[in-house]
Amino acid sequence: MKSNTPIDNKVVSQKINESGLKEVGTATIREIKKLVDTIEKETGDKYIRMEMGIPGLPPTEVGVQAEIAALKKGVAAIYPDIHGIAPLKTEISRFVKNFMDVDVSPEGCIPTVGSMQGSFAAFLTINRILKGREKVLFIDPGFPVHKQQLQVIGYGWETFDVYEFRGDKLRDKLESYLSKGDISSILYSNPNNPSWICFTEKELQIIAEVAKKYKVVVMEDLAYFAMDFRKDLATPGQPPYQSSVAKYTDDYILFISSSKAFSYAGQRIGMMVISDNLFNSEFPDLLRYYKTSQLGYSMIFGTLYALSSGTSHSAQYALVAILKAANDGDLKFVDTVKVYGKKAHIMKKLFTNNGFKIVYDMDENEPIADGFYFTFSYPGMTGVELLGELVYYGISAISLAITGSDRTEGVRACVSLVKEEQFADLEKRLIQFNEDHK
Ligand SMILES: Cc1ncc(COP(=O)(O)O)c(C=O)c1O
Repeated sequence: MKSNTPIDNKVVSQKINESGLKEVGTATIREIKKLVDTIEKETGDKYIRMEMGIPGLPPTEVGVQAEIAALKKGVAAIYPDIHGIAPLKTEISRFVKNFMDVDVSPEGCIPTVGSMQGSFAAFLTINRILKGREKVLFIDPGFPVHKQQLQVIGYGWETFDVYEFRGDKLRDKLESYLSKGDISSILYSNPNNPSWICFTEKELQIIAEVAKKYKVVVMEDLAYFAMDFRKDLATPGQPPYQSSVAKYTDDYILFISSSKAFSYAGQRIGMMVISDNLFNSEFPDLLRYYKTSQLGYSMIFGTLYALSSGTSHSAQYALVAILKAANDGDLKFVDTVKVYGKKAHIMKKLFTNNGFKIVYDMDENEPIADGFYFTFSYPGMTGVELLGELVYYGISAISLAITGSDRTEGVRACVSLVKEEQFADLEKRLIQFNEDHK
């Protein structure tokens, strides 16, 4: 370790020791946050904070106003319908039509307490539709909390890193898992957290075809809805649309988060969209746990009722207003979040100009989009070693090791909290890092 690192290395080492962490590189996101908070406080130096995936923008104003108005009207006193208030169901249905060109009736459009609750409810319900099929297949890298959810419930999972299985290679890889007969569903995020890869239309078609062959439900996590900024997905009712497996199969669940696209993470409201066919399907094995064998009914009046009996009433009104404005073309929500892509473009350059490499860099033949996250590595170092060093250079991020990635050299950076005024500092620190480690 050089003695003249950008952040006083005695303080950094002392705080790492005090934290009780064995190594910075294997710490969880929250542990890294806490460590960096204490170093910043002690030194007065600001870090380039890239560890947490939280929105860096103000909440969508039309939502805030609608929520205040709903609270003033007294909705806080009243239980909301578990399946969601009627105007919200209509606007979600319009939204998926306008921005995905997908038809789902309002019945299957259900608000959830963040998209996190949507996946939790889906894991509980979908793992019970067919006896003996109680595992989820994750197309990784992915969001670690999904696995935590399955662990809490007691269901299993399989996972593979898609890095080596893009394009046609995906088919055989999926077959190798689904043919075992114990998988109920497939889950992936698109755009992907942490790697920001986006599946191509061909890959989505392959996922749908293999899922159909083995009667497996596809769960598509659209936490970063419409944020593939290579395409202009901003205009309702006009192509191009948010890519989706929904174009290719009838048995799917979409999780659409309000947290990033509408900067509405704090109110914990998301959308679960169940395809008409799946919603109305009957699975006799559900009767082991629910009063009916109908999937949609069991999801709402079995699982969601038991979990939280619906989603915050006022937040539902916020989401009605946001979606209505987006559907009517009055709210250009995609334009608002494009700033993440612009920042990523500059930051990725700063890294690659200074000896770093982008780890997940291609969607088949096309370079990946610039967006909320990117992944990087430094030659000759593992991700864990790299994070352990970067912390002395005032840069914090998380290791890909916790995301189901096989790329042990990789680190995930989130751009949202980094301010443009910090780019000069970032560049200086990366230049020094490269000088010190060449
Ligand atoms: C891939 C992915 N899925 C789901 C979520 C959670 O979304 P929500 O805030 O709507 O619960 C996140 C949040 O970071 C995410 O990155």
